[in-house]
Amino acid sequence: MNTGGVSAGRCRLRVRAAGRYRKGAAGGVLVARNIEIDRNGANRMTTASGQALGGADGGDRLSPEARDPSPRAAAPRERRPRHHWVVRVTHWVNFFALGLMVTSGLRIFNAFPAFARKGESFCCYPFAGKPIPAALTFGGWLAGARNYHFAAMWLLFVNGLVYVTFIYLHGEWRDLVPRRGDIRDSWEMIKFYLFARRDHPHQGKHNALQKSAYFAMPIFGALAVVTGVAIWKPVQLAPLTNLLGGYVWARYWHFVVMICLVLLTVVHVIMVFAVDPYSIRSMITGGYNEAKSPEARNARPFFWRRSSASVPSPGGGFDR
Ligand code: HEM
Repeated sequence: MNTGGVSAGRCRLRVRAAGRYRKGAAGGVLVARNIEIDRNGANRMTTASGQALGGADGGDRLSPEARDPSPRAAAPRERRPRHHWVVRVTHWVNFFALGLMVTSGLRIFNAFPAFARKGESFCCYPFAGKPIPAALTFGGWLAGARNYHFAAMWLLFVNGLVYVTFIYLHGEWRDLVPRRGDIRDSWEMIKFYLFARRDHPHQGKHNALQKSAYFAMPIFGALAVVTGVAIWKPVQLAPLTNLLGGYVWARYWHFVVMICLVLLTVVHVIMVFAVDPYSIRSMITGGYNEAKSPEARNARPFFWRRSSASVPSPGGGFDR
């Protein structure tokens, strides 16, 4: 809890950090309750009664543990927990289910590769009559592809539900929901990627562009399910199908949502490899080396500083 303010000439932040322990001179245990950080990153820890524990005023720099009093900080500095196993498992199941859905869906589409009914025209699809290349489809024939499509639909639906419920209950939705300032932060990221800005904007777990993409993915996933059931049961769910503009348009929206999901995924995968390949490990093992984060490496797509064992200094620069 921040209980402090700004003193004349020297900016001070006072943090009340419960539960920091340090051996006293006589071997006893003292509890540091207050950590004061000035704007140069110098710190001073005191007990609840005001007794100094180290770092005379203007003294030493904070260790990462002192900066972050949570149990995460007690982990070795290089690797910190980043993705819970539920997030990791649902992420890869999602990848598998989405791949199956897209490829079997394209196979179903190829049974009638147009949106206009026979003898009618449709405004918005210039490739009518041209089937999708067979290499991008899966399922063999129409009925087989439908079986795969519906099986993968349940997998995607249940998996998405587990993921969304988990991040809601676990509080990780906070890393993904849009906030005031995200548009400005996204613009700063774009400027940085276009070399119009020198330093990587400060970010939390994900940068503002990533956040928007990750936030959009479950929404497009839900839209895919809604538009999908509208064309699956157009008679029983006639109100829904009509709301989407009728069967032809519902089918079209289902296709558009799929294209959006595929584009989001392709950009996501390219950016992971081009900017933060180290995060792939975090999506497998859960651990992440903060010293290799895009912010630490000042990483733009395909351009970044090689990471050393460097750790950001409290002043925002780097100790190398
Ligand atoms: C080869 C395919 C993929 C690779 C290599 C990949 C890789 C990754 C990596 C490394 C992260 C972690 C990023 C970080 O920690 O900052 C991540 C996060 C994420 N990915 Fe993927 N991904 C793939 C496919 C997909 C697909 C198909 C979707 C969904 C349509 C998806 C949705 C997400 C979401 C929503 C997150 C954020 C998870 C969270 O923090 O809760 N990814 N991905």
